[in-house]
Amino acid sequence: MKDYASLIDRERVPRHVAIIMDGNGRWAKKRSLPRVEGHRRGAQVIESLMDAAIELGIGVVSLYAFSTENWSRPKDEIAGIWRLLEIFFEANIEKIRGKGVLLRHSGSMRHLPASTRRIIEDSVGQTRGNGVITLNFCLNYGGRQELLDAVNGWAASRRPGDRITGRALERHLYTAGLPDVDLLIRTSGEHRISNFLLWQVAYAEMIFTRVLWPDFKPRHLYRMIYEYQQRDRRFGGL
Ligand code: IPE
Ligand code: IPE
Ligand code: MG
Repeated sequence: MKDYASLIDRERVPRHVAIIMDGNGRWAKKRSLPRVEGHRRGAQVIESLMDAAIELGIGVVSLYAFSTENWSRPKDEIAGIWRLLEIFFEANIEKIRGKGVLLRHSGSMRHLPASTRRIIEDSVGQTRGNGVITLNFCLNYGGRQELLDAVNGWAASRRPGDRITGRALERHLYTAGLPDVDLLIRTSGEHRISNFLLWQVAYAEMIFTRVLWPDFKPRHLYRMIYEYQQRDRRFGGL
């Protein structure tokens, strides 16, 4: 494989990269392992991914870790995911903080186990003030739910006669203050959005790969950033 890292124009890296980390279950199945083992290996990919993103100077990485639709999975898989997330943040928060990562959570805290909620809130709190890169952790996230929550949030402070604007809506999104997504990546060969960042991906470039998430390496990211830079983003203009 070419050395894409050296071909990347460091002045034009995407500001916001969003990743649908898909394929953990199939990765495990191929090896006759339980699905949760795929999730465990998937979580281990995040550190090297963030190191590469920092090295590239990417401003925001959004990771889709659990969707509002994932509640339809078996209870034991869901419980396994919460446990893994708790272990992930407990084991990694020192390192994450030390690297200057600002952690945010996008999604609803409703229905999360109290222990998971506490660890997420605590982890987010520990990175407050950091600014090397933003890691936007999308957990119990749904794009439609986000838009509904935003509209309801706006309506609660609405004065008579006010009409909602794009700017006002954005101030009430979970991602308030973050730039639009420039590059959306999905692993595992599926070609769909699955309710991820619906408002924010309006003009995102999309790259799909058959690589399963636990197999994702920094070199895959470098290749994708290079491919992104070959695209002509027109935003409806000429
Ligand atoms: C993505 O991997 C992680 C979550 C949705 C939590 P999957 O668990 O969807 O893996 P596949 O798609 O079944 O292979
Ligand atoms: C999307 O993956 C959600 C996450 C990666 C967290 P899914 O595996 O849940 O999506 P579908 O069901 O294939 O659309
Ligand atoms: Mg999947």
